[in-house]
Amino acid sequence: MAASQRVMVAMTEGPFYPAARWRAQWSDWDADLTRVAHAGPGAVAGGEHLALLLQIVDSNGRRIDGAEVEIWQCDALAAYRHPSVRAPAGAFDPAFQGFGSARVNADGEVRFRTIRPVPYPGRTPHIHVKLRHPTFGELTSQLFVAGEPGNARDFLWRQLDAGEQATLAMQLDPASGDSLRWSCRHALVVPA
Ligand SMILES: [Fe+2]
Repeated sequence: MAASQRVMVAMTEGPFYPAARWRAQWSDWDADLTRVAHAGPGAVAGGEHLALLLQIVDSNGRRIDGAEVEIWQCDALAAYRHPSVRAPAGAFDPAFQGFGSARVNADGEVRFRTIRPVPYPGRTPHIHVKLRHPTFGELTSQLFVAGEPGNARDFLWRQLDAGEQATLAMQLDPASGDSLRWSCRHALVVPA
């Protein structure tokens, strides 16, 4: 699955990583970002739903068992879930979780359900990702959508060479069924 054994490029966390202390006020930070427990039954996130399978492997191809994976991104209205963001009603999507956390299985895989990232003012669509495991510590980066026209104008994407971009570029495939629009399998390569 890994298109490259090259270690994923580390990128900035950005201003919208929601601290654990803030997250502790709510309980729903699971791997399904398209439903939020306190948004009420039947509430489903707006946007194009994406099944995102991430696999954590090291540069020798070994699958990393038990890594913790966090993702966060803005909702379909370009609002992040973060204490610094005070979007008025109607300017954010209360059914989008904004942040999700899960642990990979014995095959080094974790499945998220989220939305295809949308442009954020000044940024091309992206999903933030943070990995933790005793073997490599903590690794933070951002995932981009391969082929997005906005990538070429993005100041962070432009700093990467083609090989570095490949480590972070998600190939999205059309999905059918289960109200999914897209699916993606992407390997995140960590130092051996
Ligand atoms: Fe961001």
